[in-house]
Amino acid sequence: MPKTAFIFTFTLLLIVSFLACKKNSEPTNPGKKVSLNFPSYFPRNYSIPEHNQLTDKRIELGKQLFFDTNLSKDKTISCASCHIPEFAFSDPNKTVSDGVNGGKTTRNTPMIFNAVYQNAFFLDGRAKTLEAQALGPLTHPQEMGMTEKEIVDVVKSNPEYKKKFKECYGEVNIKNICAAIASFERTIISTTSPFDRDMQGDTTALTPAQKRGRALFFSFKIGCQKCHNGPNLTNREFMNIGLEENYKDNGLYEITKKEQDKGKFITPSLRNIALTPPYMHDGRFKTLEEVIDFYATGGKEHPNKAGQMSSFTITPAQKADLIAFLHSLTDDQFKPKK
Ligand code: HEC
Ligand code: HEC
Repeated sequence: MPKTAFIFTFTLLLIVSFLACKKNSEPTNPGKKVSLNFPSYFPRNYSIPEHNQLTDKRIELGKQLFFDTNLSKDKTISCASCHIPEFAFSDPNKTVSDGVNGGKTTRNTPMIFNAVYQNAFFLDGRAKTLEAQALGPLTHPQEMGMTEKEIVDVVKSNPEYKKKFKECYGEVNIKNICAAIASFERTIISTTSPFDRDMQGDTTALTPAQKRGRALFFSFKIGCQKCHNGPNLTNREFMNIGLEENYKDNGLYEITKKEQDKGKFITPSLRNIALTPPYMHDGRFKTLEEVIDFYATGGKEHPNKAGQMSSFTITPAQKADLIAFLHSLTDDQFKPKK
């Protein structure tokens, strides 16, 4: 073959295979677009990554992965083992959670809902998107204990997954696996609690005790709203609340290594809080009463302690009211079935 003809054929082959490859990795049938429904008092400024727009099929696929124990090393643990749906996707009554091979997590398992409003994940904010977050537990030795290759191989070996990935994302790879899981997580929404019904104008939604408790929560003196505010009851900021003079787990500092970040954790949402004792990153408080007793002390001395932390006095009756208000944040869908 003359040299020019060879180069020509070779280039042509390259182009053809490039086009074929490209075509292979395009989703063939990603499904119907889905939009999220938040009540009017929620901000509208959340965003969903352009490459991972929500569709019914992607959500369904992600849900299947979220509950699949085959994605863990010893095939016993799925995301839902620690993030239990009936408890607002958390692990109640456990200080830390059990992972594969008897491993334990180092922190208390947080709830998952209304996650489109979060721009940082993990209690120290180290993952910036849900897509990036999902890889953490999959490959963490104490959680699901897999390598990226093992995860992809498990998913690929399942013909049903293979077909669904082709339709939804084009192909099975680690990025697309995390994208599917993130799609499911974005649809876990909590907006149907007595607190919400009150926000929507139902003046009978809260009991008299809950209304008195709400007034205390939002009062200047007790001031929970200084950090737990907005429709999700959180400012989503990193704060040091003076749990310790010397923290064992220093939260944000573990990532940034900056002195001023020592002991700072993201203020969590208080929605569904009654469902998920124990409390704080290390699960140190067993009851909401203990939490309030702690806040009443104003916290221990720490150079990074937030200015919003100040001590207050509270009567037993007021404490009961405040706890009653915290119970009004429990979503009907997560209420224990009678
Ligand atoms: C063994 C228990 C366990 C398993 C399994 C697990 N998680 Fe978690 N998850 C945790 C703990 C503990 C944290 C808090 C870790 C931290 O902040 O360092 C967490 C944090 C998260 C967060 C961040 C929440 C927030 O408010 O910042 C999300 C989202 C999440 N997990 C999703 C998942 C997904 C998706 C899977 C499956 C791929 C999964 N988890 C598997 C225990 C677990
Ligand atoms: C200075 C800001 C700030 C103020 C004021 C504040 N909180 Fe918090 N709250 C936080 C932060 C930050 C955390 C997480 C700390 C951690 O995990 O170590 C938290 C955690 C909690 C938790 C545990 C959440 C969980 O999922 O484990 C509860 C319950 C709580 N706060 C209730 C209250 C109540 C009730 C008040 C008012 C008496 C209040 N907070 C005042 C910032 C604040």
